[in-house]
Amino acid sequence: MEFFIDTGMIDEIENAAKWGFVDGVTTNPSLIAKTGRSQADVINDICKIIDGPISAEVIATDREGMIKEGAELAKIHDNVVIKLPLTEDGISACKWFSDNNIKTNVTLCFSSNQALLAARNGATYISPFIGRLDDIGADGVELIREIRHMYDNYGFDTKILAASIRHADHVKKCSLVGADVGTMPYKVIESLFRHPLTDKGLAQFLADHSKANS
Ligand code: G3P
Repeated sequence: MEFFIDTGMIDEIENAAKWGFVDGVTTNPSLIAKTGRSQADVINDICKIIDGPISAEVIATDREGMIKEGAELAKIHDNVVIKLPLTEDGISACKWFSDNNIKTNVTLCFSSNQALLAARNGATYISPFIGRLDDIGADGVELIREIRHMYDNYGFDTKILAASIRHADHVKKCSLVGADVGTMPYKVIESLFRHPLTDKGLAQFLADHSKANS
């Protein structure tokens, strides 16, 4: 499974880049708002740090507006992926971007039928929001499993980008059901390193080494 970091914070992306396994970045209007900067400036900075897919979301809600805005965002860098909401206009705009060889990430997906429409229109990524489904008592990981099955039935190239990942167990389960990518906050990625037995074992090794060499 590929790892994307879900943030607009440059310091987090710089730190994450050092880990070596972070393949890309996703943002959304809420994450960009937290930075207090313009989307273009943030995306431009991110492209200098991570050489991989960087999702930037359109604000327009009509097809023509999405195409205009997305085409401008795509000019920032070849790695920019245009994030479109899963609405009638968003799906229609997705077809335009696919036909024009511009990568897309169709976001706010909450059902496998929605994922089917995005794949039919050539979306590069589909983003099912698993945490928000769990929040309303549904099963987010189950949606990833369904979409994996559906896409494999037809050989769609659209990558399943599990989003709204909230904790380490989501990461494990998404990888077990075959998500292509997981995007998650810095803190969730950081938590994946941790295990108490790793800390305990290392402390013991260092203590034994120190005793033997004193
Ligand atoms: O990538 C989508 C993600 O940012 C949504 O996460 O935690 O706001 O549901 P969350």
